[in-house]
Amino acid sequence: MEKFVINGGNALKGEVRISGAKNAAVAILPAVMLADSPCIIENLPNISDVTAILRVMQELGANVRLINKTTVEIDPKNINSFVVTKEMAEGMRASSYFLGALLGRMNKARVAPPGGCNFGVRPIDQHIKGFEALGAKMDIVKGMVDGKASQLRGASIYLDMVSVGATINIMLAAVKAKGLTVIENAAKEPHIVDLANFLNSMGANIMGAGTSMIKIRGVESLKGTSYSIIPDQIEAGTYMAAAVGVGGDVLVTNVTPKHLESIIAKLREIGAEITEYDEAVRVKMSIRPKKCNVKTMPHPGFPTDMQPQIATVLTVCEGTSIVTEGVWDNRFRYIEQLTSMGADVQVEGKMAVITGVKNLNPAPVKAVDLRAGAAMIIAGLMAKGTTEVEDIQYIDRGYENIVEKFTALGADIKRVPIMDNMVAYKNA
Ligand code: EPU
Repeated sequence: MEKFVINGGNALKGEVRISGAKNAAVAILPAVMLADSPCIIENLPNISDVTAILRVMQELGANVRLINKTTVEIDPKNINSFVVTKEMAEGMRASSYFLGALLGRMNKARVAPPGGCNFGVRPIDQHIKGFEALGAKMDIVKGMVDGKASQLRGASIYLDMVSVGATINIMLAAVKAKGLTVIENAAKEPHIVDLANFLNSMGANIMGAGTSMIKIRGVESLKGTSYSIIPDQIEAGTYMAAAVGVGGDVLVTNVTPKHLESIIAKLREIGAEITEYDEAVRVKMSIRPKKCNVKTMPHPGFPTDMQPQIATVLTVCEGTSIVTEGVWDNRFRYIEQLTSMGADVQVEGKMAVITGVKNLNPAPVKAVDLRAGAAMIIAGLMAKGTTEVEDIQYIDRGYENIVEKFTALGADIKRVPIMDNMVAYKNA
């Protein structure tokens, strides 16, 4: 076990290069299973969620070859199993994408229910509704979600709520189904567009990705391709928020500024000077953050995956800010950690009322989930003195080289092992 030890208070200065998008990678990798021949995937983030998916694909029979740190070649030809057990899917939310990908490849799938970050109930009823509309018979077998079909057929599917996961899963299952599938009230996130671009580059016929209506005309087969994953807008937003919370001047490179619009707008409201370039943004912050109200919403709204980071910045704002969570039922579990650092935050259901304090104080805190963990790092960098962040395995799920990247910006952050009691006793 490890923790981060942060000595906060240093302004952030310099350049940080953003990795490939986690939430695109975890959809595109299972999608490779739909091809008849090998695919090369570039700009893969080196994070534990990606490693976990590659391991599952290998166990299903895929041949996975690392070309370099960010590029992998995957030959799906020998995939012959359709079962992803609980042990294989351990802790991974995106395991549900194996349902759509295996149904699309073999007309059958049996996958342990998804794990991942815990912020309230995470149902997959809309995914199931989509598969059933395409003609799959869905059941629970030995605690696993089981689906089978003799032939998947295109259908019209209206999602009852905008769901990234359901939109992706239905695309995966429908891309080789017979006829036309229409997804209405579809999610519009950049990673949905990235998945559609990837599938189209393999020969799929998908139109409308990035709008609320996606049309998928089924094709007989898909061929291998080379594809580079888009930059991670949430990783970019996290470094931008850190620069605003701590102060400084940071150039964030390898990004698509268009994907960062809502984040840029809010950070400007808080007082940051932001310059947009073709593939970079520069964030300068030299004043105390101003108050700002934020409501998270599906894309193009402000992303829920940036909610803990921006709320952390607002703990030291001048005045009172209101942060409203519009996507998940329970994404304020981390607030307790911030109040232990001296933040003044009242949570009322899906709303957090943040009254700015002058400074955060260092304290031992925990990463309660991936983005909350990133927020704890920001809080630790903002507080003068030593903050320790535990349960960092959540952070490693989604942030590549976070210690190295913050260190290059001038932060004092180290990853150190946690000795268990027995080892500590022996060493005493
Ligand atoms: N929902 C349902 N039924 C469903 C599906 C979703 O009620 O069948 C509800 C959820 O409970 C939630 C809302 O719809 O209230 C949106 O859920 P969505 O399906 O969009 O979320 P997801 O696909 O499970 C992805 C990201 C999350 C991100 C959300 C929202 C991946 C692997 N995960 O989750 O990312 O918060 O979309 O943008 O793409 C993260 O990266 O830290 C992360 C949690």
